[in-house]
Amino acid sequence: MLLVAIEKIVVVDDEMMIRKALETQLRNKRYSVASTGDLKGARKILSRDSFDLVFLDLRLPDGDGTDLLEEITAKTEAPMVVMMTGYGSVESAVSCMQMGAFDYVVKPFSFEQIEVVVDKVASFDKMRRVTKYYVEESDARSTDIIGESEPVIKLKNLVDKVAKTEASVLITGENGTGKELVARELYRNSLLSKQPYIRVNCAAISETLMESEFFGHEKGSFTGATERREGRFELADGGTILLDEISEIAPALQAKLLRVLQEKEFERVGGNKTIQVKVRVLATTNRDLMDEVKKGNFREDLYYRLNVFPIAVPPLRKRDSDILLLANSFLQRHARKHAVEEISFSKNCEKAIESHAWPGNVRELENAVERAVILAEKGTPIEADLLGLKSNSSSKIVKSEKSSDTKDIASMEEVEKNHIQNALAFCNGNRTHAAEKLGLNVRTLRNKIKQYDLEE
Ligand SMILES: Nc1ncnc2c1ncn2[C@@H]1O[C@H](COP(=O)(O)OP(=O)(O)O)[C@@H](O)[C@H]1O
Ligand SMILES: [Mg+2]
Repeated sequence: MLLVAIEKIVVVDDEMMIRKALETQLRNKRYSVASTGDLKGARKILSRDSFDLVFLDLRLPDGDGTDLLEEITAKTEAPMVVMMTGYGSVESAVSCMQMGAFDYVVKPFSFEQIEVVVDKVASFDKMRRVTKYYVEESDARSTDIIGESEPVIKLKNLVDKVAKTEASVLITGENGTGKELVARELYRNSLLSKQPYIRVNCAAISETLMESEFFGHEKGSFTGATERREGRFELADGGTILLDEISEIAPALQAKLLRVLQEKEFERVGGNKTIQVKVRVLATTNRDLMDEVKKGNFREDLYYRLNVFPIAVPPLRKRDSDILLLANSFLQRHARKHAVEEISFSKNCEKAIESHAWPGNVRELENAVERAVILAEKGTPIEADLLGLKSNSSSKIVKSEKSSDTKDIASMEEVEKNHIQNALAFCNGNRTHAAEKLGLNVRTLRNKIKQYDLEE
């Protein structure tokens, strides 16, 4: 695996011989090196550019190395610091490590020693950066895919099989069906499960920042780029990247993404060095990507690159028999989270849960259950209204379309209301899309939604 984390190094030492020797040797190893003999010079160099590593002498003519060490470690995207010290002051070097220095070397040192330290810094730095994103993104809880219905069993089997390959996977499904959960399961069960897992939400990042988010940038490459920064692809090197909501990326970036998938290389924004990575790509979308290809919004070649293995996550209404299972497991999970004891749904509430259409799928169900857990009275079973579900009769209509065992005939109004509700569910709550399907104009649909009180 290629480690690109260490590129720019500063050497601060007033002993000219040591400084020059170190500088030359590091340059021979293709690092870019700046060097100086005092603190003043070091501060100047550090303010000019961003660096990955500083070799810092303990005693300098204009002060103590520890002063600079403090200044450096106080910054967020700070370079790592390795102290250099004479034999007599190893103790102060050790206390430097408590102040945030990464390591120290004792003079005189061999170049092999330096190489070992630089490698150690490189792998530590990489790990630190990856861990930072990993912790940010993984939100600590890892849930298994819950469900025993036929479509979910099939889904789990497919996930198991596909996980073991290193192929790209395109996960499709409506909002809230569990696409991200499927992606995480693919990663957890893959041969790369000990490697980084980096997620990028393409819908949440502005078009202008997306390229830098993907590929990183060099210092000064645009306003606000005050430090050099690695992109998500670099962080994911050797591991897996999840491109969430892939349909949202701009055309210009689609071309660059294709290049990473094909050639496994890219350049940082404002940089001219080509960086190589090996990354497994998972992508999700709630749109019909082929449709987007036909409309000219998404590159066809990119589509085929991503879609080596398609996995479709079914909407919750296609796995009715899992609804209660999910609801109860969310009930337990959120009761634990909110420290609520002995909590359950009433029988009527369970019926209401089962017969609701859940257009927002598992996410909507989970949110409703969490809200109910928070609102629940101690010792009283949860009723439908706490979940925001209306009386049973209205939700029964939603089902009546699917099952023919209704004894009563619904009124035209009820049928219309039911039909609109289903259309909205089908279109993920997107009114424009639903109006199109229903052959109504959006304003008419909006009025009907008001009339039937279908507002969320
Ligand atoms: N089968 C499932 N079992 C357990 N939890 C699920 C399941 N499907 C979805 N969830 C939960 O529902 C929420 C929404 O899932 P998510 O993967 O974010 O959906 P999507 O990415 O498709 O919008 C998450 O909290 C997820 O953990
Ligand atoms: Mg998602």
